[in-house]
Amino acid sequence: MDYQHILNSIQTELSSTPYTGKVASYIPQLEKIDPKKFGMHLFCINSGHYNFGDSNERFSIQSISKVFALTRATSLVGNELFRRVDVEPSGNPFNSLVQLEYENGIPRNPFINAGALVISDILISLLDNPKKDFLDFIHKITGTTTIDINIKVFESEKTYSHRNAALLNLMKSFGNIKNDINTVLDFYMYQCAIEMSCKELSTAFMIYANGGKRLLDGEQIIPSRKVKRINAIMQTCGFYDEAGEFSFRVGLPGKSGVGGGIAAIHPGQYAVTVWSPPLNPKGNSELGMYALERLTTLTGLSIF
Ligand code: DON
Repeated sequence: MDYQHILNSIQTELSSTPYTGKVASYIPQLEKIDPKKFGMHLFCINSGHYNFGDSNERFSIQSISKVFALTRATSLVGNELFRRVDVEPSGNPFNSLVQLEYENGIPRNPFINAGALVISDILISLLDNPKKDFLDFIHKITGTTTIDINIKVFESEKTYSHRNAALLNLMKSFGNIKNDINTVLDFYMYQCAIEMSCKELSTAFMIYANGGKRLLDGEQIIPSRKVKRINAIMQTCGFYDEAGEFSFRVGLPGKSGVGGGIAAIHPGQYAVTVWSPPLNPKGNSELGMYALERLTTLTGLSIF
């Protein structure tokens, strides 16, 4: 299959498609990004790399980091992890507080903010230096040691983190947060402020497409039985209250972030990342979703 030709036609088609989405503004630093940025990188297990546009420019990975955080947590803790965070789709916005009250402080899944905050709390309890561990893990799975956080984005989110602080306070009142709230918030915002390019994210996500193994040298980074679970949660919960729509239109496990990135995988086939900052009303990249829908349609390769 001529993947580069397919990517080129997606670029041509979508570059002229009008979009109605808005760049995230609740983290002021994110609003400064050029809404016209558009890049895509496809990394196929059998045939390598294909890309277009701004695929080598780093952007704020935001909630895509929640997949890496869950991966670290599942490597360090067993099934007891899932007593503190469930694996059900929430059907609610990513930063919603409502279910937490009547579900006794147990978040629906690790990919909504509440769930990711519990994962942060777990990593802080278990690791001496969770920030370093997190970056080291990303360096390991990408082979790129220059990946780092954007301090301005980190500081910017700190000033506007009242909702995440509210989620933490509510969960702490139910006993589901063990550490100091500001410490958890600080680590959570740190992981969200990491910047990576489409190419780097596709390389990182290759472990989820490749049964937990780094493609470069076959090193087993996480057991395949754990990858199966992480991919299942991406499929059912990776897009908040649009997880059904993403499954319906694209048909791949994936994860979005408010920086405009979406990373997705086809087990045994490929990892793909697309970046376009304007977000639809559910907080997912508008053109990103279109691009992935075209990819699975034109290649005929979705998991369904
Ligand atoms: O906590 C927040 O609100 C952001 N740091 C991350 C949110 C996010 O990326 C949700 N994704 N669609």
